[in-house]
Amino acid sequence: MLEANGIEKNFGGLKAVDNVSIKVKEGTIMGLIGPNGAGKTTFFNLITGFLSTDSGEIKFKGKDITNLEPHLISRLGMVRTFQQTRIFPEMTVLENLIVAPQDNVGEGFFDPIFYRKALKDDQKEKISVAVAILKDMGLYDQKDEYAKNLPYGEQKRLELMRAVMTSPDILLLDEPTAGVSQDYTDNMKSYIKKLKNERGITFFIIEHKMSFLMDLAEYLYVIDHGKLIASGTPKEIQNNTKVINAYLGTEG
Ligand SMILES: Nc1ncnc2c1ncn2[C@@H]1O[C@H](COP(=O)(O)OP(=O)(O)O)[C@@H](O)[C@H]1O
Ligand SMILES: [Mg+2]
Repeated sequence: MLEANGIEKNFGGLKAVDNVSIKVKEGTIMGLIGPNGAGKTTFFNLITGFLSTDSGEIKFKGKDITNLEPHLISRLGMVRTFQQTRIFPEMTVLENLIVAPQDNVGEGFFDPIFYRKALKDDQKEKISVAVAILKDMGLYDQKDEYAKNLPYGEQKRLELMRAVMTSPDILLLDEPTAGVSQDYTDNMKSYIKKLKNERGITFFIIEHKMSFLMDLAEYLYVIDHGKLIASGTPKEIQNNTKVINAYLGTEG
């Protein structure tokens, strides 16, 4: 479904991403791990078009998407979340979902009466989609709460739900449990599984803590100093000396 070959990105003299190649199979949960500063977020920025690559090729559903604009990539069905949560704190949970999808009706259509009606119908449609997601993801009771009042773990879940509103084929999550308590981390894990099983969403997840992906991902890629140092099942990765060494000293 997603394939990146020989991706490189330099920041001045720093090789932040150095000849990285990955494949993500449809219907799986795959992970990208590595110590802080390894180049994980930069790699996501490159495959989602938020940064342009210095070299390499990215294919999504067989289509070359290298250096395509982020909104065009998300329209194709690849949607990402950010390490720093991007929700609207002063809006309610429901409102956060309603404003999520980028593709509004009526583009290039000029009859105001028809346009207004179309917008209203679109809004109704969005509300019913949002309500279904809220119920599925355990936040229906908080739908009228301001996002800023949710516990941080639920804010992260809300961000995930905003991405789900766009009906993605694949979701790229950048540290979905960074700063989240253990209870909400376990919750996040089960909601991700649920989204995969019930909505058929493929996942590619960045984590810097290995433990989160150990019983979640089918396959892991490991990067350190911009380079791919290992890939395999979580079990294989857990016992890989290169990986253990990369984490030693940085993780304590
Ligand atoms: N926009 C940028 N300009 C310069 N250096 C950057 C930029 N973004 C990231 N870096 C550097 O690239 C390296 C990888 O960063 P990042 O991709 O954020 O790592 P990770 O997400 O694995 O913690 C780090 O050394 C970081 O300081
Ligand atoms: Mg990062």
